[in-house]
Amino acid sequence: MAHGAIAAAIVREGDLDETLFMIKPDAVLGHKAGAILAEAERAGFEILDLRLVRLAPRDARRFYAVHEGKPFLDELVEFMSSGPAIPCRLRRENAVQALRDLIGATDPKDAKPGTIRARFAESKGRNAVHASDSTESARTEIEFFFGDGSARR
Ligand code: CMP
Repeated sequence: MAHGAIAAAIVREGDLDETLFMIKPDAVLGHKAGAILAEAERAGFEILDLRLVRLAPRDARRFYAVHEGKPFLDELVEFMSSGPAIPCRLRRENAVQALRDLIGATDPKDAKPGTIRARFAESKGRNAVHASDSTESARTEIEFFFGDGSARR
């Protein structure tokens, strides 16, 4: 490899960052998890870790603590603890923004055609997936699901 190519590869490695993606119970129970993960991989995300969880209501509330006091929180907690979810630790260049773009707006009615929520979500509440909204949230949310020494590379 030419010297310039090595330097470029190192810079690229440094640009990679991580985000937390979660496939929600509506999509897992609707047998859409495989298709959704395929979309993430097609968009260049590398799966670093993933697991299937059934969140207890108190854990769902802890995960969504930033929404404490919002009128939709109780419904959100009930939904997120109603079935299996698949949190995933994903890596890509500009991961947080790239994943937000890939999933689309919170309400599928507002999501751009081709985005994951436009294709797979039922409604604003049952919206198929979650993605971290900032690098700071990504760190906290990855820690929430994968901070227990589970397999990593
Ligand atoms: P998510 O990206 O997981 O973050 C918070 C979730 O709250 C959001 O997706 C929606 O599924 C859910 N939610 C339900 N009602 C609302 C609402 N009125 N505004 C924003 N989020 C909502």
